[in-house]
Order: sequence, then C-alpha cells, then structure tokens
Amino acid sequence: MSITHEDAEPRTDRPARIPTRRSVLMCRPEHFVVVYRINPWMDPALPTDTSLAVQQWDVLYRTYVDLGYDVQLIEPIEGLPDMVYAANGGFVVDNVAYGASFTYPERQPEGPAYMDWFRSHGFEVAEPRSVNEGEGDFLLVGDTILAGTGFRSTDASHGELAELYGREVVSLRLIDPNFYHLDTALSVLDGTPGQEHIAYLPSAFDDASRAVIAERFPDAIVVNDEDAAVLGLNSFSDGYNVVIASSAVDFERQLREHGYNPIGVDLSELLLGGGGVKCCTLELRR
Ligand code: ARG
Repeated sequence: MSITHEDAEPRTDRPARIPTRRSVLMCRPEHFVVVYRINPWMDPALPTDTSLAVQQWDVLYRTYVDLGYDVQLIEPIEGLPDMVYAANGGFVVDNVAYGASFTYPERQPEGPAYMDWFRSHGFEVAEPRSVNEGEGDFLLVGDTILAGTGFRSTDASHGELAELYGREVVSLRLIDPNFYHLDTALSVLDGTPGQEHIAYLPSAFDDASRAVIAERFPDAIVVNDEDAAVLGLNSFSDGYNVVIASSAVDFERQLREHGYNPIGVDLSELLLGGGGVKCCTLELRR
C-alpha cells in the first residue's frame, strides 16, 4: 500500500498567494508597562522590561519596512501604556476612520489621540457613538466586515459600522476571556474578494458564530490550542507574507502548506499586556 502525502505536490486547486503592499500605523512602546489588569494576560505583579519591548517591537517594525510596507507612526503618550496596541485605535476603510471608544477608563484617552492622528493625516473621521475597540474587533475580509463582540466592542457599534460603510457586517460572539478581541481568535489571511481565506480558533466563539464561520469559510485553517495560546492568530498577512508569533510552530507549518510565507517574530514582552503582532498593527485603507 502506498502512502500519499496530500501536500507533497504543489497544489493547483487554490488561488496563487499574491502579496499586496500594505499601509499600516504603529506606536513604539516607549511607555509600555503592565500597571492595570483589563484582560487575563495582564498581571501588574509581574515585572515588564520596556526596553526589551521596544527592541522586540523594532523587529516587527523593520519586518514591515523590509516587506515594502508604508509604515506610519503615532507618537506614544506617557501614561497610556497600551497605546502600542495600535489596532485598537480605530478601523479604517475607504479613507474613513471610525474612531475607537474604549471599554475601560484606563484606555479611553487613546480614542481622541488616534482620531487626531487620522484627521491630521488626511483621513475622514467618524466619531463613534458606541463602545468599540477598532480593528481589534473589526476585520475586513472581501467586502464583508467581521465584527467581534462579547468582551469589548458592543453590538451597537456593529450597527454603526454597517451604516457608515454600507457593507455587510457579520457579528461574531467571543466567549473565552483569553481571546477577548476578534483579532486574537481569527486571522484574515487573504481578504481578496472571491478568494477569502482565514484561520481561527473555533472554541473562542459561541455555537452560532462558529457555525457562521464554518459555513462562510469552509477551507479555513483551524489552529490548535497551543498556537492560539501564544496569540499565534494575532498575525498580519499581506496575502502572501504572514507575520506571526515565532512560537506558533504548527500554525507556521499550516501556513506553508497553504502556500503562504510565514515570518516569525518574538513579541514575548508585549504578550504580557495581552497583545501580539496584529494588536501592534492598524491597517490604513485609503
Ligand atoms: N492590554 C490591551 C487591552 O487589554 C491589549 C490589547 C490587544 N489588542 C488587540 N488588538 N487584541 O486592551
């Protein structure tokens, strides 16, 4: 009997993985510390090393620059240690930035700071009426916005998104406090309309949401618990290159098998705040 290896031959039944040059906003973690606890990853009793956080973040920054991305920077503000997680600063599509309105008082001043940045860089800003944490919970895939709720962004914010962008918004309910933002539980690998492809952790969602995801994305990559537990899903893809946590080894293999080019980076220090690659990255879509 012969054993056949499904992935030994190059597959022809899937779309070519083509990188698209990205434009992103980042915030250097100059004031990063863990002094409050708003998610289970954070423990103010554990020491944090700000200079190591900056060094690790710099590797991510240089990775994006080397990939040819346009990388914009927002000035970090003292006293806002979570500002490094730029994904939460808003959600930007069609040159319109829907501002963030943070759940916890500790992060609330970040909302206006990011909105000021958007305004002064040529984006139209939509002031939020509802609590939402930007691209941490909102992911564009094809022409659809996947929108997380359960811990941070509210259902009402999903309605605002639909009104603002005139696109389909699919609400997904998160149920595991360790995966409190959508971008910790689901990763958009290819957002090209017609060849949408994602990876996710099924157990992070309630039954109804899990069914919606399985129906919409039948060929999704399902990651294992170990890779999810190092925030492996908190990754950033340009359609071919996928920047991921270097410790998410099985996810790395899965990505290769699906024709992507995974690039591992170590953000262990920022993991102490409950964030990884994607959390540090806000996509700017003009
Ligand atoms: N400490 C931050 C918080 O709990 C981490 C945010 C992570 N960001 C993300 N996009 N998942 O709000």
